[in-house]
Amino acid sequence: MFTTHFDSYNFPSTPGKVKMERSNYFGRVASRWHSTASARLLSCSAILLALTLFVLFRMSLYNGADQYLTRVTPIPQAFKPDHVWETRVRQSCLPKKSEGLIVLVTGAAGFVGTHVSLALKKRGDGVLGIDNFNSYYEVSLKRARQELLEKQEIFIIEDDINNKELLKVLFDLIQFTHLMHLAAQAGVRYAMQNPGSYVHSNIAGFVTLLEACKDANPQPAIVWASSSSVYGLNSKVPFSESDRTDQPASLYAATKKAGEEIAHTYNHIYGLSITGLRFFTVYGPWGRPDMAYFSFTRDILKGKPISIFQGANKQDLARDFTYIDDVVKGCMASLDTAGKSTGSGGKKKGPAPLRIFNLGNTSPVTVPNLVSILEKYLKVKAKKNTIKMPRNGDVPFTHANVSLAHAQLGYNPTTNLDVGLKRFVKWYLSYHGLEPSLKSQRS
Ligand SMILES: NC(=O)c1ccc[n+]([C@@H]2O[C@H](COP(=O)([O-])OP(=O)(O)OC[C@H]3O[C@@H](n4cnc5c(N)ncnc54)[C@H](O)[C@@H]3O)[C@@H](O)[C@H]2O)c1
Repeated sequence: MFTTHFDSYNFPSTPGKVKMERSNYFGRVASRWHSTASARLLSCSAILLALTLFVLFRMSLYNGADQYLTRVTPIPQAFKPDHVWETRVRQSCLPKKSEGLIVLVTGAAGFVGTHVSLALKKRGDGVLGIDNFNSYYEVSLKRARQELLEKQEIFIIEDDINNKELLKVLFDLIQFTHLMHLAAQAGVRYAMQNPGSYVHSNIAGFVTLLEACKDANPQPAIVWASSSSVYGLNSKVPFSESDRTDQPASLYAATKKAGEEIAHTYNHIYGLSITGLRFFTVYGPWGRPDMAYFSFTRDILKGKPISIFQGANKQDLARDFTYIDDVVKGCMASLDTAGKSTGSGGKKKGPAPLRIFNLGNTSPVTVPNLVSILEKYLKVKAKKNTIKMPRNGDVPFTHANVSLAHAQLGYNPTTNLDVGLKRFVKWYLSYHGLEPSLKSQRS
């Protein structure tokens, strides 16, 4: 009896895969153990010990997972819309003209998401945002961006892109023509502190959204933010879309690369039209406080020293800084040229577009040059510490070849770093209410 029971739970039933001698062996051992009382006691203690170890092991897993989940945003289990919510969603999604797009923008309270949402609304498209307002950087800045959008009647749903139930309700309610997917865990260094948040937002979140899109009828076309970081340790410059992207230098880059492969799969199986955009160090007003140009500005104004990294052989780091307005134009052009998804009812009905574009500025600037421009517009000298670049995910340089985006999207970046940083500094001072004191300093 014991042998049969054991077999039926632990061995595959497929003929040819089970070694019958094994079950006979266990049967013999079992009957020997059951033959004496002391053996029975021993066997009970062993089972108890194994059970305790198993429970402790599961608890440690659970605690680990719990800690992991609370460090990323917990996902609500159920979603029940009310009338007010539904009305706000419908109003936000209403395009001014019948041919206008209806776009769901993920990460709408983020830097790029805010600018893209405003640009879409300005030209008369319907826009609905979703953002979980996580605290990776100042939530107050995300709230201020939200206020900006609300003034233009853009509603941001405060939720996680992993909330399947919410997405189901949304896609049943609204026929989105496009998904502009910008929500992500950004930043390369934070991955060493909280790797789970990258998996949660950049991989699981993307798959959850793609599942909702593939089930929608009609399916929307998708434009999403990949990153120049996929070029990783590639040393051939400028970076072209056909260059190798299999040497990521950070977990962030690896999740963006994974996203590109996942996009391929959903395009291939379900006929989703998908465009990936590899942004190159986007900067500008309402930008991200974790990025160097932003944190340098903050520290220079406070009189705090800034750390300037250098690569091997004291080489200055350089970035192809791209102004937000240029990136927004690239996003809009991608939405307008996306081409339709072909699937319905979760089934592909024909080939759909799968595209990838660099959106950069094509003229890298070194970090010391960036600092000089900031000093000029802040009218404050920076206290600089030059240190060796730590091995935590950064790459020595980025440089985009944008000829593909130019040919297919009409993409043509026009803002150089000097002009762009001047606008950023103007915004920074006004946002932080610093203008009057600086004016008096100058006079
Ligand atoms: N800014 C750049 O230089 C740059 C460069 C390359 C790629 N990108 C990519 O562009 C996109 C936009 O970047 P950004 O600079 O605006 O970043 P951001 O951090 O300002 O915006 C991302 C937004 O997504 C939200 N978010 C994150 N995870 C979420 C989740 N699970 N559910 C709901 N919302 C979530 C955040 O709260 C945030 O508001 C990102 O995908 C980023 O990886 C940005």
